[in-house]
Amino acid sequence: MRSSTPAPQDAGRPARSTVTAAPRRTVGRLILLLAGGISLLAGLDGALLLLGLSAPVVSSRLADVHGPLMVFGFVGTVVVLERAVAIRRRWAFLAPALLGAGGLALLSPLPLPVGQLAFVAGSALLLPIYRVIWRRAPSTSTAVQALGALLGLMATVLWVGGVPTPRLIPAMSLYLVLTIAGERLELARISPSVDDRAEARLLGVSLAMVAGVVVALFWPPIGYPLLGIGMLALVAWLFRHDVATRLIRSRGLPRYMAACLLAGYGWLVVAGASWLILGPIFSGPAYDAVLHSIFLGFVVSMIMAHAPTILPAVLRRPLPYRPVMYGPAVLLHVSLLARILLGDAHGLAGLVEWGGVVNIVAVLSFVVVAVASVLLGMPRPPSAEPSAPRSTTTSTSASTTALDVPR
Ligand code: HEM
Repeated sequence: MRSSTPAPQDAGRPARSTVTAAPRRTVGRLILLLAGGISLLAGLDGALLLLGLSAPVVSSRLADVHGPLMVFGFVGTVVVLERAVAIRRRWAFLAPALLGAGGLALLSPLPLPVGQLAFVAGSALLLPIYRVIWRRAPSTSTAVQALGALLGLMATVLWVGGVPTPRLIPAMSLYLVLTIAGERLELARISPSVDDRAEARLLGVSLAMVAGVVVALFWPPIGYPLLGIGMLALVAWLFRHDVATRLIRSRGLPRYMAACLLAGYGWLVVAGASWLILGPIFSGPAYDAVLHSIFLGFVVSMIMAHAPTILPAVLRRPLPYRPVMYGPAVLLHVSLLARILLGDAHGLAGLVEWGGVVNIVAVLSFVVVAVASVLLGMPRPPSAEPSAPRSTTTSTSASTTALDVPR
């Protein structure tokens, strides 16, 4: 959004359009975030139904669309909104708007293809967004993220075409995994261990995984073990090069983010090893285990890690780090251990149910902590004098952490 040039008599005064445009833009972004939030709540309701438990809203549609609603309606809207903010082009906001609207359409009585086609259109628009980023500064990081976007588009097109969700899990997973891995590379470039060869290795693994997704669609017994090897290679790269392995020894926000990141990488090992050892998995406890190792253990942990740096860029309001943020993160990982490594692995249905319910509590409690943290504003450091300069209180804010997401 560009503001007009002030007339000479207005020189020195801020143009009214620039004064009012910023809050308007923030309200627009907030509406898009709320659309993603509604998909999240509906997806959690669907999760309760899939667990065979009672839920606030009972509808078979909610259970049927739980997966795509979570991946594209919730995570997709939030991630793509952040990309749109990064490039600052008005048309780019159509992408998160379509993904958010697609989620809402799936919840409405509208025919299923309306929401599905909105997901296709929103995912397709992510590609020109990466084109803009690429033209500004070509990088391996953008290439890896664009490969993820391509897989997201592929998953939505196949879903409209009638391919059942279990067959789309590799494309849906890698859509988010490659998007996040590309962003992590951007940050890892400050590390001396990341040279051209390391970047080329990550690009090579990403390309191999895209090929693995295609092979898994047509020849699952070959494709899934390939994807397992690719996933393990990707995690090895992340553990080797991500700054999180060093920042886990720091304090405050960087340490919290590093802990969430490393725990998330650990869950990718579970998913990669399962694909490698078990091969194609389309139902049953192993299906639940692989799905939620990736989508809850990795993706939601990444959201918990990056929220204090991404949300301020989107909403222009700080989301200050508070140690209480560890609460939902620990709850998520402990309940996931119970659900997957005890419940799914040993056929203990009760633990799967309880683990699933506590997963939901963990996600919701993070939302509550994040909203409360935004509303409460910057905490005062314990050692600060009442008259301490404001800059000292912002030392853990979004713009100053070494783990900040570049944009
Ligand atoms: C927060 C707690 C969550 C719970 C309790 C939960 C529960 C479930 C259950 C019980 C299933 C059925 C598994 C099966 O058929 O064996 C399922 C499927 C699925 N979930 Fe979740 N889920 C949660 C969060 C998420 C999130 C955050 C995502 C994505 C970001 C996600 C993505 C999926 C996908 C893609 C499927 C496959 C759907 C299908 O086969 O139609 N879930 N979930």
